[in-house]
Amino acid sequence: MDRIVVNGGRRLKGRVQISGSKNATLPIMAAAILAKGRVRLDNVPNIRDIKSMVAVLRTLGANVVNGGRGTVTISTRRINKPEAHYELVKTMRASILVLGPLLATQGVARVSLPGGCAIGTRPIDIHLKGLEALGADIRIEEGYVIAEAERLKGGNYKMPFASVGATENIMMAASLADGTTILENCAKEPEITDLANFINEIGGEVNGAGTERIEIVGKDKLYGASYSIMPDRIEAGTFLVAGALTRGDVTVGPMRAEWLQSFLDKLSEAGVNFEINDENETIRVFPPYEFKPVTVKTDVFPFFPTDLQAQLMTLSAITEGESTYHETIFENRFMHVAELCRLGADIKIDGSIARVKGVKELSGAEVMASDLRASAALVLAGLIAKGRTVVRRVYHIDRGYERFEEKLAKLGANIIRDRDAANSPKK
Ligand code: EPZ
Repeated sequence: MDRIVVNGGRRLKGRVQISGSKNATLPIMAAAILAKGRVRLDNVPNIRDIKSMVAVLRTLGANVVNGGRGTVTISTRRINKPEAHYELVKTMRASILVLGPLLATQGVARVSLPGGCAIGTRPIDIHLKGLEALGADIRIEEGYVIAEAERLKGGNYKMPFASVGATENIMMAASLADGTTILENCAKEPEITDLANFINEIGGEVNGAGTERIEIVGKDKLYGASYSIMPDRIEAGTFLVAGALTRGDVTVGPMRAEWLQSFLDKLSEAGVNFEINDENETIRVFPPYEFKPVTVKTDVFPFFPTDLQAQLMTLSAITEGESTYHETIFENRFMHVAELCRLGADIKIDGSIARVKGVKELSGAEVMASDLRASAALVLAGLIAKGRTVVRRVYHIDRGYERFEEKLAKLGANIIRDRDAANSPKK
């Protein structure tokens, strides 16, 4: 098991190359199951979750080549086992995204219920209701979802909550249904639009992605194609906070401001100076900084993204005054709070609200990563904590960030990754 050791106090300076989006790549890899032909994906991030999805597709019988240098090719002609087992699904709940495509192409799918994870129980009831609206028979047996449908039929479904994964699963299944499907109260995240663009690239007909109403005209067949994944807006936001925290001068790109507007509005409110260059698709944070406390409420796109809540809280932890964070998307997404307090932060949790009283300085300590974004927030805190901070269990970070510590080191951070002898099985 690895750990990250960071010594605080360095101002970050320079440009960060943003990798492909994890949360666009995962549904698009699942959507490759819909294509009768070879799919080539470019700008795929080289991270653990992608390797997990490659493993899932291979167990289904697909032929997947992951060059690891940003290109993944997928041929699903020989998918013969429409089953995603518990062992794989429990390591990455996004595996549930193969359910819709398998049902649409194989007429049957048997996928393990994902179960919860560190940040919440993460049910899939909306996914299942949506597939039933397309005529699927769904039953749960021994912890598995078994879905069957001779041929899915276009239908109408209004989601009770704008679930990202449910929007994606139903959209993929509907793309091969007989007839047209109208989905309402859809998630509007940019990654949904990227998935819709991919489905249209392989011959589908999805209209309205990015709005709350999506129309999918079902086709009899979809084909192989090439597609380049959009950049990762959560990685970009994470590095913008890193630049601001250290009062540095950091440019991230490629990145479009429209994908992060509510986050940028909050950065402004927090006294972070930044400029947007639409032409080069970059965003830059730079001095002067006049940090101010903020009130943050996470919500579905286009509001403040839950995936950047922990990172921004790190900035509030050293900002004079009281900031409040209201997490409305997940029931347990304050795993970073106890660890930030070990670094000297003054944060109290009251249900789904975290009250952050800024302190003058954090001081380095040993902390434990728990989930992907909480772990990133702890590394960010280490950048400004006095002395040495050791973040253990960094495999959480590897799930969603490509070469995280390398990119930070390139910006001037005093950071290394090494083997956590104290926490690794004796060789
Ligand atoms: C996606 O998860 C992202 N993951 C998450 O990113 C992100 O935090 C989340 O959307 C919200 O933006 C991927 O795209 C792979 P949801 P997803 O369905 O699809 C409840 C990261 O750090 N819900 O919008 O699981 C659910 O319990 C990860 O990159 C139901 O009740 O998110 C949760 O409280 C973490 N029933 C809320 O909706 C359902 O059927 C949001 O879930 C589905 C969801």
